[in-house]
Amino acid sequence: MATQAEAIKAVEAEHLLQVFRRIPLVFTRGQGSYLFDTDDRPYLDFVSGLGVASLGHANAELAAAVADQARTLIHTSNLYFHPLQGEVGRRLTALSGLPRAFFCNSGTEAIEGCLKFARRFWYTRGEPRPRVVALERSFHGRTLGALSTTWEPAYRVPFEPLLDVTFVSPNEPSALSAACGPDVAAIIVEPIQGEGGVWPLTAAFAEAVTAACEASGALLIADEIQCGLGRTGAPFHSATLGLRPDLMALGKALGAGVPIGAVLLRQRVADAVSPGDHGGTYGGNLLACRAALVFLEAMAQGGLERVQQAGARLETGLRELATHHAQIRDIRGAGLMRGLEVPDAAVQVVEGAMSRGLLLNRTAGTVVRMLPPLTVSDQEIDEALRILGETLASLP
Ligand SMILES: Cc1ncc(COP(=O)(O)O)c(C=O)c1O
Repeated sequence: MATQAEAIKAVEAEHLLQVFRRIPLVFTRGQGSYLFDTDDRPYLDFVSGLGVASLGHANAELAAAVADQARTLIHTSNLYFHPLQGEVGRRLTALSGLPRAFFCNSGTEAIEGCLKFARRFWYTRGEPRPRVVALERSFHGRTLGALSTTWEPAYRVPFEPLLDVTFVSPNEPSALSAACGPDVAAIIVEPIQGEGGVWPLTAAFAEAVTAACEASGALLIADEIQCGLGRTGAPFHSATLGLRPDLMALGKALGAGVPIGAVLLRQRVADAVSPGDHGGTYGGNLLACRAALVFLEAMAQGGLERVQQAGARLETGLRELATHHAQIRDIRGAGLMRGLEVPDAAVQVVEGAMSRGLLLNRTAGTVVRMLPPLTVSDQEIDEALRILGETLASLP
């Protein structure tokens, strides 16, 4: 007799497009910062569905709000008004200082929106600009526009030709101005590069971005999909770096697990967009907006301050671990977005921690990434550090 987990894997193997290399765990429920597999074994979740389960799993308030919304009204399309979309927009524009919001369903769609609105801006001015400047190590999504701005050649090359994008090294501020001419519609950056290995942009590079935008006129797109919305303890990491984006892409944490993405726009960009220029059936429906309101309220009610405390505790603990374990070559990130550079043993660390009941994620080959729920407790941080220390100590 196949176990429940084996049966689930067999159905997938037979019927699903094999596009994901899944880790062989099957989760059936969650509670707070823990996931439970088919044998009800608990795993402390420091991945949070890749930065999505911002309020933890099975959050009671979120569940009640989503259930109430499902009983009331889930979806009407963007043909009509409903009471929640404007309210999410009001809160996001107040948080960001960008006065206009557009809603979609995912991060990659938010990037598509940013790219389209940037093009629309230049088209309206009568000087179409076809080119975009992006950064090496960037990850902006998998749809064709977003993919064009994603660095990893293995993701991009099989789908070429894509948009005209010039990639610049984030280690070379001086290269940026050279790459930006009068044909560049926008520069797109992640304030902290997530998939690329948790690399915050340096102050020098942030200054070069601002200077290149000023000199060339290019719009600035900040991809805050992973590092934004409280992940670093600030509403947006672009503001921490002193960047002044014209467009911002949001996703992940916003719906706390219910899919929603958003584009925030400066007024002069919003002014270039006319009814019918862009849209979507689902974007900003009542269910997604209700979830986003629960998340945004939690951040407003002390959530951000809590991430600051939790992030400081995690960083202190990681730095302490690094003094005992030479395998950790670097610790990067901010708040509850951390990456450990473990050049020779990232796979072993992730697998060893998993076997001890801690979920971590490897990215960029050598980096062990931590993206716990923003609601993670001090005890859970300490437990994760204990398991990580035990795992590192067990390595040859
Ligand atoms: C910085 C960044 N941008 C864009 C995306 C794409 O978001 P989604 O997977 O929701 O399409 C991701 C996803 O990992 C991301 O981390």
